[in-house]
Amino acid sequence: MAPFLQYTFPFLFFLVISSSQAQNSFRPKALVIPVRKDANTLQYVTTITQRTPPVPVQLVVDLGGQFVWIDCESGYTSSTYRPAVCRSAQCSLANSLFCSDCNGTPGPLCNNNSCSLSPQNGVTEFITGGDVTMDVLTLKSTDGFNPGVTVNVPRFIFACTRSFLLEGLASGTTGIAGFGKTRIALPSQLAAAFSFDRKFAMCLSSETASPGVIFFGDGPYSFFQGGGDVSQTFRYTRMINNPVSTNGVALRNEPSFEYFMGVTAITISGKDLPINSSLLSIASNGVGGTKFSTVAPYGILESTIYKTFTETFISEAAAMNITRVASVAPFGACFSSNSIVSIRGRLQVPSVNLVLQNRSVVWPIYATNLLVQAAEGVSCLAFVDASSIEDVAINPLASIILGGYQLEDNFIMFDLATSRIGFTSMLYDYTTRCSSFRS
Ligand SMILES: *[C@@H]1O[C@H](CO)[C@@H](O)[C@H](O)[C@H]1NC(C)=O
Ligand SMILES: *[C@@H]1O[C@H](CO)[C@@H](O)[C@H](O)[C@H]1NC(C)=O
Ligand SMILES: *[C@@H]1O[C@H](CO)[C@@H](O)[C@H](O)[C@H]1NC(C)=O
Ligand SMILES: *[C@@H]1O[C@H](CO)[C@@H](O)[C@H](O)[C@H]1NC(C)=O
Repeated sequence: MAPFLQYTFPFLFFLVISSSQAQNSFRPKALVIPVRKDANTLQYVTTITQRTPPVPVQLVVDLGGQFVWIDCESGYTSSTYRPAVCRSAQCSLANSLFCSDCNGTPGPLCNNNSCSLSPQNGVTEFITGGDVTMDVLTLKSTDGFNPGVTVNVPRFIFACTRSFLLEGLASGTTGIAGFGKTRIALPSQLAAAFSFDRKFAMCLSSETASPGVIFFGDGPYSFFQGGGDVSQTFRYTRMINNPVSTNGVALRNEPSFEYFMGVTAITISGKDLPINSSLLSIASNGVGGTKFSTVAPYGILESTIYKTFTETFISEAAAMNITRVASVAPFGACFSSNSIVSIRGRLQVPSVNLVLQNRSVVWPIYATNLLVQAAEGVSCLAFVDASSIEDVAINPLASIILGGYQLEDNFIMFDLATSRIGFTSMLYDYTTRCSSFRS
């Protein structure tokens, strides 16, 4: 059994790569898409072009999402739409376990002999069924400096599902773009279609009016106005595997498809927080560790870590004459903005560092990713207590979750081929922002 499986998988994968291989005479080295922050939901929304005739499709970016799913119930029309045939290479690649028939009116949501997946809304955690489907996807290539010509992926695989799954997503969006570690998530499918490295780099803008970018493929990742290649400034840490899925639709003994890194300590004003170190590693049941999330708007900390983190920050802030004020929900540590001194545009607050593989590799969380204006004149620590989250929607199984607010204006590269994560901390260090990229 096992040797057979080992042989079939690369073979099937090869078939799918060659069939979804873009029919472009020009082979791009990298692609780029815009990502905007939605002011109401604080979700990050990208726009891709799909179907024939092509239409722009807005999708919520879910870093841990397993694949792209799209609402096919409301106005999906395309002459190039094709359901994947049961037991086809596409169904295997998608890791689909089910085949189904349909007696209704044929259409994107009703196919015979098709295979299906269980699309999940990463925000509400609702799950439903959806057929594995292919349609043409059109994206912009880039040389790392400027957007280039558009290229097509003729048979991009996604799940077609029903409108109700959109509940809780930013207005105007019609699905989710999954960026997880699966073979059919956006990064791996695009890498296979154009034979470039399985890596992507994300730069989320903090400004709702100006979008940031996501690059697929290798650098350079360069700025619009005379800036250098950001990838030259990366620091690296290992991507940690979580052997147990933390996802509500885990099948069999699936590993997690989300991105984790290894935090070994947290320091505030240079001092280690007293943290039960077993919480920082991933236990055999998949609980613990540090993960990234673009669907959690703010950081989420396991209760005991949250308590020591906020208490220490509050006392270190007091030592800097920063005045604590009444908390504004959902935050538990808030300060008078007027009491925070700014020097050359930088807010002077206690320094917070995540220590990674050793003491010389740290992920600093600067003031702009640490404090959020929660009310007029009130700045709060942009983290919430995991135990305060009633629905387990954002899966507070990880001990530390860096939410969208912590990732903004930080250039982060996820390299699936070498299992490492490159990061710049704050782009402000390099006097630019995620909105400075052209997409
Ligand atoms: C599926 O096959 C059945 C039986 O042949 C047929 O009645 C039905 O209309 C088909 N459904 C679709 C969507 O083609
Ligand atoms: C540390 O955390 C682990 C995992 O939650 C727990 O089993 C253990 O009892 C904790 N140790 C202490 C000293 O609190
Ligand atoms: C805090 O305020 C006190 C009293 O005004 C002053 O003596 C002290 O230098 C201030 N500390 C800092 C870090 O600014
Ligand atoms: C820390 O880790 C980095 C990257 O893994 C390595 O290059 C460096 O030598 C390490 N430093 C120490 C002091 O161990």
